Amino acid sequence: MHEDVPVTRISHGAAPGSKRPGLRAFLTLLLGAGMVCATALAGSRPAKQAAGAQAKAAAPAASDYVGSDVCAACHQSVVDGFANNPHTKMMLMHGDKGITCENCHGPGKAHAEAGGDVSKIFDPAKATPAQVNAMCLKCHAQTHPNFLRSPHDKAGLSCISCHSIHDSKTAEYLLKTPQPQLCYQCHGDIKAKFNMPFHHPVNEGVVQCTDCHDVHGTFQNANLRNTADQNMICTKCHTDVRGPFVYEHPPVKADGCLACHSPHGSENARMLNMPSINTLCNQCHSPVAGDTVHGMGAGSAELAPCTSCHTYIHGSNINAAFLR
Ligand code: HEC
Ligand code: HEC
Ligand code: HEC
Ligand code: HEC
Ligand code: HEC
Ligand code: HEC
Ligand code: HEC
Ligand code: HEC
Ligand code: HEC
Ligand code: HEC
Repeated sequence: MHEDVPVTRISHGAAPGSKRPGLRAFLTLLLGAGMVCATALAGSRPAKQAAGAQAKAAAPAASDYVGSDVCAACHQSVVDGFANNPHTKMMLMHGDKGITCENCHGPGKAHAEAGGDVSKIFDPAKATPAQVNAMCLKCHAQTHPNFLRSPHDKAGLSCISCHSIHDSKTAEYLLKTPQPQLCYQCHGDIKAKFNMPFHHPVNEGVVQCTDCHDVHGTFQNANLRNTADQNMICTKCHTDVRGPFVYEHPPVKADGCLACHSPHGSENARMLNMPSINTLCNQCHSPVAGDTVHGMGAGSAELAPCTSCHTYIHGSNINAAFLR
């Protein structure tokens, strides 16, 4: 357990100094976090060893940590800038002894004693993505258990491709850049989709990329999120099309919304995949167009959009043909 993670020592240091109002609540919260870290750490050990140099170093002892007051002596502006960082909650773990910085930078005694020898401190900006991810995931594996199987990890991104601990530009989540610009920096092709005539209002700030995607990885295609009841994420907001209906239109559930809609944006109204509704329907119902079914004579169904009669196209509780 005695690796470079002071948090795991929480049980020794937490109690003293608990005179402040609200501190007990904080400590309870942090104790939870501490346990999470301890568990995550145990699980991630092989990955850390694979990460190389760092893991080969002897496990640091408690006396290798000096506390953030010492860091402040030479990094005053960094320490000042940290005052409102959510990570300052970690400070309270050790009765205000302030080991905050070293939770991420590793033990700092040797670095401090050598007058700031940069080879004796862990600098995430100079580390490999795998090393950075392992470090952050010591504490965040519980909330982001799928990162190491995500397309972003596979593509060699790390947490700090999107997050900035010391220089965040957002009020929440310590992001480098707000959404959607953050995502467009690398996904320029997707940006074009949201400029189409019919699109989800992402650039307008109504919907966010991360409403539909969890960039930290999921078990779905394209990092997609699920609804709480394990359906496609779309019905979280579009509850009226969710059903269940007495008369389901099978492709809505079987093929999913993408059988007919483009998720980001489209040239067609209602973000449909095809310019003509009838062409869309006839991919699966081509004999209908022919037409004996409607009794209207060949081709007559082509004159009006199918949905002018088959209105409740996602399903109906009243009519098996989704008529009005
Ligand atoms: C005696 C002064 C001193 C103390 C104390 C000190 N540092 Fe430094 N630190 C430096 C100097 C000098 C540099 C090099 C700055 C530069 O090159 O711009 C540095 C660089 C760093 C870097 C960047 C390393 C790199 O690769 O460029 C980190 C991270 C860092 N310090 C963290 C810490 C932390 C965390 C603490 C407290 C545990 C700490 N320092 C304490 C003087 C100090
Ligand atoms: C949650 C993890 C985390 C904590 C806590 C943390 N840092 Fe950092 N620090 C980083 C990361 C990541 C970088 C590298 C790149 C960046 O800026 O995102 C960094 C970079 C640095 C640097 C070098 C770049 C610069 O801004 O000069 C210094 C110095 C530094 N940290 C000092 C500190 C000090 C002092 C503390 C405590 C007040 C601290 N850090 C707390 C993650 C952390
Ligand atoms: C591709 C960009 C990207 C990468 C890579 C990334 N994040 Fe995030 N992260 C975000 C965005 C955007 C949010 C805010 C929206 C959300 O929660 O999905 C966020 C939110 C978070 C949150 C706060 C919300 C929560 O669910 O707990 C934490 C903690 C976090 N990220 C940690 C990490 C860690 C640790 C890593 C590396 C293992 C990482 N992130 C990698 C973009 C990224
Ligand atoms: C020693 C444990 C620890 C480490 C290491 C750590 N974090 Fe955190 N992180 C925390 C705690 C504790 C919080 C506050 C949680 C809360 O507010 O409930 C937090 C909060 C966050 C948040 C959410 C901020 C918000 O606005 O909600 C993000 C994003 C985040 N961390 C990213 C990172 C990244 C990226 C790294 C690696 C560079 C990292 N963390 C390393 C413990 C840690
Ligand atoms: C630093 C560059 C970078 C940033 C920033 C970034 N991504 Fe990515 N993203 C990639 C790379 C590289 C891949 C893997 C290759 C690919 O599929 O394009 C990827 C993959 C993805 C995938 C999976 C694609 C698939 O085919 O499975 C989704 C979804 C995604 N990113 C969404 C986002 C979102 C949403 C954001 C903003 C919160 C974001 N990305 C920010 C670089 C980035
Ligand atoms: C309304 C939900 C939704 C929103 C909002 C959304 N996406 Fe997607 N995204 C999807 C779905 C669904 C797919 C899967 C498409 C498929 O499988 O054909 C997808 C696929 C992707 C892919 C994989 C490549 C591709 O073109 O299919 C990337 C990359 C991506 N999205 C990035 C983003 C970015 C960046 C944003 C924000 C600017 C964003 N998405 C917003 C639902 C959404
Ligand atoms: C976070 C909530 C949210 C999610 C998740 C979501 N949408 Fe939307 N959707 C919206 C909003 C908001 C609009 C814009 C409504 C408006 O302009 O009146 C919209 C518009 C639409 C429209 C056009 C409606 C019209 O009247 O023109 C379609 C079609 C659509 N979404 C399909 C989908 C599909 C398919 C998915 C899943 C890939 C999805 N939505 C996921 C919020 C969401
Ligand atoms: C079989 C094709 C098909 C499938 C599958 C489908 N839709 Fe639609 N959807 C349509 C058509 C066609 C329209 C346009 C109806 C019109 O113009 O009257 C539409 C319209 C919409 C609208 C606009 C408002 C409304 O209710 O008419 C939303 C929102 C929507 N669909 C969401 C979804 C979601 C979410 C899913 C997945 C759960 C989904 N659709 C699956 C064909 C489909
Ligand atoms: C991806 C394939 C697919 C698409 C696209 C599709 N459907 Fe269907 N539809 C089906 C299937 C499968 C059934 C059930 C077939 C059956 O029972 O004969 C069905 C059933 C129906 C029924 C009820 C038939 C009955 O026997 O009661 C109607 C009406 C219908 N579709 C109309 C439409 C319309 C209008 C469109 C275009 C907006 C459309 N469908 C698009 C696959 C599709
Ligand atoms: C003028 C109104 C109208 C238009 C336009 C229309 N339909 Fe129909 N459709 C009907 C009626 C009415 C029925 C019979 C419903 C019943 O059996 O109760 C029907 C039945 C169907 C059925 C079920 C056939 C069966 O075996 O029972 C399908 C599938 C269907 N339509 C598909 C389509 C498609 C695809 C289009 C567009 C190419 C279309 N319809 C256009 C009115 C229309």
